Amino acid sequence: MEKKTFYITTPIYYPSASLHIGHAYSTVATDAIARYHRQRGDETFFLTGSDEHGQKIERKAKAAGITPQQYVDEIVAGFKDLWKLLDISYDKFIRTTDDYHVKAVQKMFKKLYDQGDIYKSKYTGFYCTPCESFWLDRQVQEAGGVCPDCGGKVELVEEESYFFRLSKYADRLIQYIQDNPTFIQPVSRTNEMLQNFLLPGLEDLCVSRTSFKWGIPVDFDDKHVVYVWLDALSNYITALGWGSEDDSLYRKFWPADVHIVGKEIVRFHTIIWPIMLMALGEPLPKQVFGHGWLVLDGGKMSKSKGNVVDPVKLCERYGVDAIRYFLLREVPFGSDGTFSNEALIARINTDLANDLGNLLSRTVAMIDKYFGGSLPAPAAVADEDAALIQLASELPAKVDAQMDELHIPDALAEIWKLVNACNKYIDVTAPWTLAKNEAGQERLKTVLYNLAESLRIIGILLTPFLTSTPQKLFEQLGLNGAQTAYESLSWGGSVAGAVVHKGEALFPRIDAEAELAYFAAEAEKAKAAAEPAPAEAAKAEEPEEETITEIEYDDFAKVDLRLAKVVAAEEIKKSKKLLKLTVEVGDETRTVVSGIKKWYAPEDLVGKTVVLVANLKPVTLCGVESRGMILAASDAEDERLSVVTTLSQMESGLKVR
Ligand code: MSP
Repeated sequence: MEKKTFYITTPIYYPSASLHIGHAYSTVATDAIARYHRQRGDETFFLTGSDEHGQKIERKAKAAGITPQQYVDEIVAGFKDLWKLLDISYDKFIRTTDDYHVKAVQKMFKKLYDQGDIYKSKYTGFYCTPCESFWLDRQVQEAGGVCPDCGGKVELVEEESYFFRLSKYADRLIQYIQDNPTFIQPVSRTNEMLQNFLLPGLEDLCVSRTSFKWGIPVDFDDKHVVYVWLDALSNYITALGWGSEDDSLYRKFWPADVHIVGKEIVRFHTIIWPIMLMALGEPLPKQVFGHGWLVLDGGKMSKSKGNVVDPVKLCERYGVDAIRYFLLREVPFGSDGTFSNEALIARINTDLANDLGNLLSRTVAMIDKYFGGSLPAPAAVADEDAALIQLASELPAKVDAQMDELHIPDALAEIWKLVNACNKYIDVTAPWTLAKNEAGQERLKTVLYNLAESLRIIGILLTPFLTSTPQKLFEQLGLNGAQTAYESLSWGGSVAGAVVHKGEALFPRIDAEAELAYFAAEAEKAKAAAEPAPAEAAKAEEPEEETITEIEYDDFAKVDLRLAKVVAAEEIKKSKKLLKLTVEVGDETRTVVSGIKKWYAPEDLVGKTVVLVANLKPVTLCGVESRGMILAASDAEDERLSVVTTLSQMESGLKVR
C-alpha cells in the first residue's frame, strides 16, 4: 500500500533580526506535528525557510554598511543554528534568494501577466514598511492615520505598479471557504476572514514596486521588483520544484496538508495565497492553521523594550526539551498566551521534574532495589492495575484525537493523565510496604512491571514532542529498539528480565526563587542596554511592533475583573519594584504583589478601591504568592503610572465589565 503523504510548513521568517521565543513557538509546534506524522508512518515533508526580500531589509543592510545579501546571509545562518539547537526536523529550508525560487517566481508572475490576471496601472496609497503591506486611503483613515495592522507609521506612495486581480476570484474563494469549513482553523478565524475582508469586497492587489531594488525583478520589466507577499507565499510550491524541470516533489506532496502560521498572517494565507493558486490552476492547501501569539506580561516582545526572550539562552539554561515542552504545553494552540519565567519554571518543576522525572527515577530505583535491577514479570491483575492498564491502552487513541485537531497541549495533557495516574498508583499500592514481607512479593512484581510498562508507552507517545527525553527514559528502563517503536504501543511490550539502569534525573528541579532573581537582574541589564542615547533616540525610525488585535466578547468575558479595596500595603524589601498589597474582594482577603513601588508609597494605596484581575493564575514573586493583578495605566517609557480606581465609592467584590 502506498504511504500517506503529509506536507506541513512554517511561515518563512524575515531575516531582519534574530528570532525570538515567539518564532521558536511557531516552529517547535510545526516540528512536533511533523514528527507525529512521521512516527505514524506518513511520508512527511516539513518545510521552513526565510523571507529575505523587501525594503526593510534593504534599509537595515544599508544602515549596517553591507549588501542586503550579506545582511541576510548572516542572519539566516543564525536561524539555522537555532533550528538545529531546538532539534527542528525540517526536510528543506528555502531561502527566497535561492536561484530556483527566483526563477519560479518570475515564471509565475509572467504566466499571471500573460493570462491577464496581472495588469499594469498606477498605485497611490500607503505603505507600511515593517508589515510590508500596502493600504488604501480608506483603510488608513479608518485606522486613524496609521497602519491598520501594526498601528505604526505609513508612507504615502505613488508609483507605476502591477496589480493582481484578486477581485476576479473573490466569489470563488468565498464559496470555497464556505464549502470547506476546516480550511481555516481555528474556526473563529474563518469568520474573521469572511466578515472583515472577503465579504466587504476585495480590491486588486499591488504586486510590484519600483521604489526599492531588493526583490525579485519582474523579468520583462526590470524597473519593478515583485511585491514581497507574492514572492513569499509562492515558497510553499517553489520549494517542491513547481515551475522547474524536476517537479516530482510537487506532484507528490502538493496540496499541503497544513500551513502553520501566526494569526496576523492568516489573512495573506487564506486570501492572497488561495487566489494565486486558483489563478495558476493549482489545488489549494487543505488547511491554514492560525496560532496565537506568545506575549510577555507587559505586552509584545520588542527589541527597543529590551524584553525579547532569547530561546538560545533558555535552552542553554534548562535544556532543549524543557523549552520544547513549555512551548507545546503552556498555551492552547490557536490562542494567545503569556510567556513568563515563573510559568516556565513551574512547568519544569511540576510536570517535568516532579511528575515525569520522579516517576521514572522512583520506578527504576525500586526495580533496582527490590529485584536487583531486572524487570520482574507481572502476576495476577488487581482492580487498580486494570484501571491503569485501561488508561494506558486507551491513551494512543486519545492522543490521536487531539492531534487530529492540532490540539497539541491537550495531547500532552492526555499523556500527563497517565503520568499522574502512575504517581497515584505508587501511592495507593505502596510498593515499599509490599517489599517488607514475602506475601507482598507477587504484588510488588506486578506493580513495578505496570509502572515500567506505562513509562514505556509514555516514552513512545512523547517522542514527537520531546527529542532527547524519550531516549533517556528508554535507556533507564533497559528497552531495546523494537520495544520503543510506535508499532509496539500496545500494553505488554516490556519484557521481564530487562535490565534497568539508574541514570541522571531527567529534569533537575530548579530553585525558583534564585532563578527569578537571576532573571530580574538580567532584565534590568537588558533594559539598560536597550535605552538609546538621546541622539540615537531622535534618529530611531523603527516603529514599535505593537499590534492591537480585536477580540471576541467571549475572550473579554474570560477576564474576571473585580473591585478590590486595599486594606494594607507594605514594601517587599528585597525588590526594587514590588509592593505587597492586602486587598479585600467582597468577603475574601487576598495578597497581590504589584510592580508599582516606583510610583507609590504603601500608605498612598491603603483605603483605595482598585480594579483587580481576579482570575489570574497565582504566581510567586520574591517569595510572596500573588493572587491577581491590579490594573494601572502608564506611558510608553514608564515615566508616569496611575492605578485605576472608581469615580464614586463602590463596594469591593463588584464585577467590572
Ligand atoms: N515573512 C512573513 C511570513 C511569510 S510566510 C509566506 C513573516 N515573517 S515574521 O518573521 O515576521 O513572522 C513569522 C511568524 O512568526 C509569523 O507567523 C508570526 O506570527 C510568528 N511570530 C512572531 N512573533 C510571535 C510571537 N510573539 N508569538 C507567536 N508567534 C510569533 O510574517
